[in-house]
Amino acid sequence: MTTATPSTTRTDTAAHVVVMGGSSGIGEATATLFAASGAEVTITGRDRAKLDEAAARIGGKTATHPMDATAQADIDAFFATTAPIDHLVVAVSGAAGSGAFAELDLDDLAHGFDAKFWPQLRILKAALGHLTERASVTLITAASARAAFPGTSGLAAINGALEAMIPPLAVELAPRRINAVSPGVIDTPWWGRVPEEQRKELFAGLAATTPVGRVGRPEEVAQAINSLAVNGFITGVVLDCTGGANLPTGR
Ligand SMILES: NC(=O)c1ccc[n+]([C@@H]2O[C@H](COP(=O)([O-])OP(=O)(O)OC[C@H]3O[C@@H](n4cnc5c(N)ncnc54)[C@H](OP(=O)(O)O)[C@@H]3O)[C@@H](O)[C@H]2O)c1
Repeated sequence: MTTATPSTTRTDTAAHVVVMGGSSGIGEATATLFAASGAEVTITGRDRAKLDEAAARIGGKTATHPMDATAQADIDAFFATTAPIDHLVVAVSGAAGSGAFAELDLDDLAHGFDAKFWPQLRILKAALGHLTERASVTLITAASARAAFPGTSGLAAINGALEAMIPPLAVELAPRRINAVSPGVIDTPWWGRVPEEQRKELFAGLAATTPVGRVGRPEEVAQAINSLAVNGFITGVVLDCTGGANLPTGR
């Protein structure tokens, strides 16, 4: 494991970028994109071995910090040692809270909030004293927040609650900028919990009903995150990156 070192340069190409949940999927792709532009990148995640492997793939000046984003003590310990942050990306998540409402176990939905909603807010709160004056923060939500996909009312609640906070946070925390990227279905290790054959069938079905004709790639969401982070005139925005999957069909 390497440790974060203080960043002395604050230009866009030498910024300190922290990706919470940066050892896999969308977070790793985001860290890779920033690292390629010369940024000092710190990635976090629970699994130390996964972090080290991701840091080796990302290359550049990538530091790692194992921590559990559901544990306030871990969040506080991370921010106590990290260098000032120019761009913060929060990509942590669990998988609880999905399913048809009639069968939805509300305790499972509460676990979903514990794994995504509360960690994102706890991280943002703890980060406030460690963000540079014109820092950007990008939360990762999900298209379920504003679509009418059956079986996603619980996920809509978690991600919709986060999205609703973006505009007021952007005003309150200015001149720091607060945005979110709201992905559709993206082929990441998150889907590893679904058996391969079932996943292929699911993705094919989703591709057929998505205007661009396929599910997304983590690199595409990373580009959306990077655009919001580096454009100093965008704040309070939730940017969809869904291939059009959540567009109203007029039915
Ligand atoms: N993939 C999709 O289709 C999709 C669609 C819409 C929205 N999203 C959202 O996009 C974000 C990233 O998802 P992804 O698909 O890239 O997932 P992923 O490949 O499973 O990556 C999740 C990352 O977060 C870390 N993480 C998870 N729980 C954590 C915790 N409690 N503490 C610290 N780190 C934690 C994981 O590392 P460890 O496991 O080692 O902790 C990993 O680095 C999530 O917010 C997800 O809800 C994904």
